[in-house]
Amino acid sequence: MRVLSGIQPSGRLHLGNYFSMMKRMIDYQANADLFCFIASYHAMTTVQEGPALREGIHQAAVDFLALGLDPDKCTFWVQSDVHEVTELAWLLSTSITVSQLELAHSYKDKIAQGIIPSAGLFTYPVLMAADILLFGSNRVPVGKDQKQHLEITRDICHRFNTRYGEVFVMPEPDILDETALVPGVDGRKMSKSYGNAIYFFADEKELKKAVMSIVTDSQGVHDPKDPDKSVLYQIYSLFLDEPGKAALADRFRTPGTGYGDLKKELLARVLDTFQPYRKRREELLASPEEVSALMRKGAEKARAAAMPIISKAREAVGIAPKTATLPKQKKK
Ligand code: ADP
Ligand code: TRP
Repeated sequence: MRVLSGIQPSGRLHLGNYFSMMKRMIDYQANADLFCFIASYHAMTTVQEGPALREGIHQAAVDFLALGLDPDKCTFWVQSDVHEVTELAWLLSTSITVSQLELAHSYKDKIAQGIIPSAGLFTYPVLMAADILLFGSNRVPVGKDQKQHLEITRDICHRFNTRYGEVFVMPEPDILDETALVPGVDGRKMSKSYGNAIYFFADEKELKKAVMSIVTDSQGVHDPKDPDKSVLYQIYSLFLDEPGKAALADRFRTPGTGYGDLKKELLARVLDTFQPYRKRREELLASPEEVSALMRKGAEKARAAAMPIISKAREAVGIAPKTATLPKQKKK
């Protein structure tokens, strides 16, 4: 089974990214044919300075590698190093209508924020469909905010295959309920654009400030607390297994523990969970050459997987001659 996902290098990575996508991808490499990439072209829709994008790509690659993504066990590359994906995006763009793209929530949200949309922002989901279809992906692990993009990909796949023949594999979204929507410290979706994110590789001082600012209600130490309405409970649970979650819920309901103490425990969890990866991260950050070499190798592997599919798509739409069938060898 081929599992593929990508992440935009458009800022530091947070617990929402980690639990809904990064951790799951790292876990998948043991038992799936894993394809993971840094969505550099997509990030151009928001990061519009060359040095910032270059730095973001390096940092995202380093974070993934430091957390345990192993380029020997998967295919890990930078999207723009396999530029056939932009060609495929063009081939796919005639299999979706403008009015369908106008319905995309992420596009509508950006417009609602007053952003003047570039053509790139508008066609973002088409490039995303190309990422997925170019590699014959079966499954795509993402957070809930990407669900609609996956539906658009499936629509494009269906329309293209109906029109031109079975060229692409139909992908399935892979969204887990527990991590579909990780809340930020203010209770809204955790996002780097909302200033409510917990950046797991931040230093202790910054992490402490973020964790201590998680919103809570006014229940005191001696009051029972409702875990189901608590952002603190939701974030803390990400670090726990099922029995751990049940025990935490009990502690919420039983008077005696204050929010301050629970936050201190959560801070310790965050620090402990990411501590083992910090040293490797520092080493990689200091070795851009080593990281670039790994990414170049990854791009070669990715391109090898992409070539037969882009060739098939070019043939299907009629811009490349059909590959000549070789004459059968005579039996000796
Ligand atoms: P951001 O919203 O911070 O800009 P991205 O759009 O770069 O994050 O998201 C990268 C990946 O992380 C996607 O798979 C997305 O679904 C997931 N993701 C981002 N924020 C969250 C969140 N708060 N909860 C769950 N998944 C998230
Ligand atoms: N749109 C995704 C995000 O913002 C990133 C992305 C680009 C992606 N191409 C993809 C995710 C293909 C999964 C598959 O997070």
